[in-house]
Amino acid sequence: MSQILPHGGLLVNRIADGAEREAQLQEAKGLNFITINTWTISDLDLIGVGAFSPLTGFLNKEDYTSVIEKTRLASGLVWSIPITLAVDDAKASELKVGEKAALIGEDGVTYGTITVESVYTVDQKVEAVNVFKTDDTEHPGVQKLLERPSTYVGGPITVLNRPQPEKFQEFYFDPAETRRLFAEKGWKTVVGFQTRNPVHRAHEYIQKTAMEIVDALFLNPLVGETKSDDVPANVRMKSYLALLDNYYPADRAFLGVFPAAMRYAGPREAIFHAIVRKNYGCTHFIVGRDHAGVGDYYGTYEAQDLLKSIPAEDLGITPLYFEHSFFCTACGNMATSKTCPHDKASHLTLSGTKVRAMLRDGVCPPPEFSRPEVAKILIEGMTEQPVG
Ligand code: ADX
Repeated sequence: MSQILPHGGLLVNRIADGAEREAQLQEAKGLNFITINTWTISDLDLIGVGAFSPLTGFLNKEDYTSVIEKTRLASGLVWSIPITLAVDDAKASELKVGEKAALIGEDGVTYGTITVESVYTVDQKVEAVNVFKTDDTEHPGVQKLLERPSTYVGGPITVLNRPQPEKFQEFYFDPAETRRLFAEKGWKTVVGFQTRNPVHRAHEYIQKTAMEIVDALFLNPLVGETKSDDVPANVRMKSYLALLDNYYPADRAFLGVFPAAMRYAGPREAIFHAIVRKNYGCTHFIVGRDHAGVGDYYGTYEAQDLLKSIPAEDLGITPLYFEHSFFCTACGNMATSKTCPHDKASHLTLSGTKVRAMLRDGVCPPPEFSRPEVAKILIEGMTEQPVG
């Protein structure tokens, strides 16, 4: 059965195994090394397994500049988020173009190697304004960017050790595996759903509306680094499982995690999220209100507008756009302004802050906002691990 092609046509695989891996680990012992944090380890691994296809390594200067300025790689292929490896000045002065360096975690594990093709210094304020549309240091993505050194190392990578999740290992699937699983299940059309939150009724509504027109849902929560007031991934995972068990058909909904860091880059991150889900084998991708947004930095439908500006053939995956959805007490169901004639007084809307406060006080939000099974898990999670 023919499946949607990965971005750029080929699924990248840069994971070494067997004798090849042993030899490279041996070689890595004699190499200069770069220390990488959890975020960079996740980028490295996602490049390795092809989730970031067509990237085969951290961006070189030419691709970086092109991504920043044109939202495309130098080849012309759409790409919206710069995937970069930052090093401090001392390390940068030691690295030589053409040589390999080992990529070692703060835990001492050799996660991989990079063949250094370029070492370049960038203006991170320009990067911030182009990628995040702001250089405000209150923006969590900008904050993370500006914390890093501004010299980047570009070049192809090889993964030698995979990061090991502490929990929920059974929900980690590489793109080659999800592609195989989708094909085995006979799903020709699969809609991907990105989330960094528990699945509330609005999420459920847009997922199920999409499920009416495709073969299956790939619930693909982001479980890499998020900001400290987001609900921790382990608590969210429990809530997804409770929701799937009780409210979704087991043969048409599939849960697998997306182990990437959250950038909070709104419109640009929506493009990135869509492309990555194409690499996992999705044919469709849900984009609702303020996708990957934070605070008031982006307009409600800005992510949708940017995606719509990209020619369909350049994106490959089909976005499914949804308006802000809510429970309408007059309609007695979930709706959006496209389907509901009533005014705001009939619409149940709760802010994230308000919901967090309720959960912290052990109060279940109304069932029209959150399924009780989900609320219960979130309340337990809050008391175990206070957030916000
Ligand atoms: S995100 O940062 O991962 O985008 P979140 O988990 O809240 O945040 O959203 C997941 C997806 O659901 C995004 O596509 C977002 O636009 C959409 N979404 C969230 N809440 C709503 C809502 N009330 N109405 C419509 N779409 C929504």
